[in-house]
Amino acid sequence: MTTTPTLEVYLQPEQLRAALRKDATVGLTSNPKWLPPKYFYDARGSELFEQITALPEYFPTRTERELLRRYSGEIAEVAAPEILVELGSGSSEKTRLLLGAGTRHGSLHTYVPQDVSVSALEGAAEQIGVEFPNLTVRGVVSDFTESLHHLPRGGRRTIAFLGGTLGNMVPAERAEFLSGIADVLEPGEHLLLGVGLVIDPAVLVPAYDDAAGVTAQFNRNVLQVLNSQLDADFPVDEFRHVALWDAGNEWIEMRLEAERAMSIRIAELDLDVEFAAGEQLRTEISAKFTLDGVRRELAEAGFGVDRTWTDPDERFALVCAARR
Ligand code: SAH
Ligand code: AVI
Repeated sequence: MTTTPTLEVYLQPEQLRAALRKDATVGLTSNPKWLPPKYFYDARGSELFEQITALPEYFPTRTERELLRRYSGEIAEVAAPEILVELGSGSSEKTRLLLGAGTRHGSLHTYVPQDVSVSALEGAAEQIGVEFPNLTVRGVVSDFTESLHHLPRGGRRTIAFLGGTLGNMVPAERAEFLSGIADVLEPGEHLLLGVGLVIDPAVLVPAYDDAAGVTAQFNRNVLQVLNSQLDADFPVDEFRHVALWDAGNEWIEMRLEAERAMSIRIAELDLDVEFAAGEQLRTEISAKFTLDGVRRELAEAGFGVDRTWTDPDERFALVCAARR
């Protein structure tokens, strides 16, 4: 039986633009200036992220893929999902390994990819529908930092949150996000997290500052989003990509540095934003974890860790936790 994937939209482009207006007003009038990371992912940003995942320096994706290749069977045993919900699913490329294991295990009947990026979701849902004709595929366009109560039910669920995207939130946001997931799961349902681990900054920093400059393009793309969505006039090429390791917070911080003093007009907001020469705008944090730290954050949110899997170099971990 083959069913056509469906797409449920809980976040209209106009709502995302309204959120951008609000966040840009707050973030660009703060000191220091900042922007939330979800605005990277327009069609061009999603495409650039896919290019990042293939870079020699960007080890997280291939490390997680290898973990999934090895351990998806064990994950299916532990969680026995009937419905796999994936938050921030992007291209769903690595997820195929979980879907294969879930269908072989015999439990899985539905896949729910969820993302803020319609372009990423449409392509992924269609492709998965073709590759897994016996799965029901229900794509969901929404913001995972909002309520998750719209997510489908109708069987034992596992919520996957892969790629290390949990690290793109500060600790208070993570606590709220994990509690939000706990809120929608029933006792015994699972959360599968993929997280980057704290490692040598000499390996980590180049992953966010690659020689080919793709991450720099990804970073600057957020200014392009402001230009097109809010009629701003950022001279995108006059911002330098910065990636540094913050040892105290154990996170990578991406910033954009103004190469000269400039005044930016954001017509849609009727706002002028001044940058001093060398002033930096924070665009993303990418926190790295210890297994003990993840266990503690999960316990505080109402989860108990069933199993963890790490690669031999201990750069990345998959963590399978049950709602208590
Ligand atoms: N899970 C994939 C993609 C990671 S990139 C992987 O492991 O390769 C991060 C993904 O999260 C992007 O597809 C982006 O569009 C999505 N995303 C970022 N912020 C989001 C938000 N607030 N709500 C929903 N999706 C979001
Ligand atoms: C999606 N997220 C986990 C990526 C990361 O590694 O923090 C986004 C990214 N930023 C720069 N490169 C990749």
